[in-house]
Amino acid sequence: MPRPSSPPVAHTLKTLDRTLTRFRAAGETVALVPTMGALHAGHLTLVKRAKRKAKRVVVSIFVNPTQFAPNEDFSSYPRTLNDDVAALSELGVDLVWAPSPEVMYPDGFATRVVPEGPALAGLEDAFRPHFFAGVATVVSKLFGQVRPDFAMFGEKDFQQLAVVTRMAADLDLRVKIVPVPIVREKDGLARSSRNVYLSQEERARAPALHRTLQACAKKIAGRRPIAATLAAGRKGLEAEGFAVDYLEARHAETLAPITSRRDGPIRLLVAAKIGTTRLIDNLAV
Ligand code: PAF
Repeated sequence: MPRPSSPPVAHTLKTLDRTLTRFRAAGETVALVPTMGALHAGHLTLVKRAKRKAKRVVVSIFVNPTQFAPNEDFSSYPRTLNDDVAALSELGVDLVWAPSPEVMYPDGFATRVVPEGPALAGLEDAFRPHFFAGVATVVSKLFGQVRPDFAMFGEKDFQQLAVVTRMAADLDLRVKIVPVPIVREKDGLARSSRNVYLSQEERARAPALHRTLQACAKKIAGRRPIAATLAAGRKGLEAEGFAVDYLEARHAETLAPITSRRDGPIRLLVAAKIGTTRLIDNLAV
């Protein structure tokens, strides 16, 4: 049962509009935290950051079908609305926006936002080609529905952050995208809902991902050649038992490949499997 201090939950555009109109009439700023629910500590960090940024905080909870491929886990994706609302009640969230798929994609829906640039960087898009069009479509709808002044996105999904930032600028969406730094365990492992799938032995090896990024960043900052540094990093990860999808140095905004430190601010990005669990991480140089 939701506790008395639970935030109100809007399921229809009419209810959403009623609350937002009240906020706007009082001249209050609004920050949106877009989520697919199953909230964990990482999401709660986004909410806390949103609280510092704006007077009102709206958390959207919507498991977006358009960002799942047919072979992915859309139907089994956890849907835990009551628990999520309870988790948010301590944090002073003003409204939860939880539309049904029919509200988000009514009969006759026929428009997709298909991002390019960082969405075609050959990183996550190479493994999930449908993903960023689904994200861009739903995020632009969420922005249209909530019309937030700020929207919080975690740096953990760095390519998603770059795609949404580019989209908001390109489409004049008048929302400030706020990047929120990765929350890490004490040993450096980035927090992720997937970490629970790691066996004890895999969990012990998983921090090598962050250690490798740190070591590569240090070498590149110290002017060691980028390609050789990444090749050695990749080898090290493989020796630790990772199957590496990519370990790349990219321009921190465009995600274009980087061959020299002069090419711009550098972000290192990695995706690798340990056992059956695929982990991603990234770090600024
Ligand atoms: O990062 C997520 O949880 C999702 O991709 C998002 C941004 C909520 C869009 O469905």
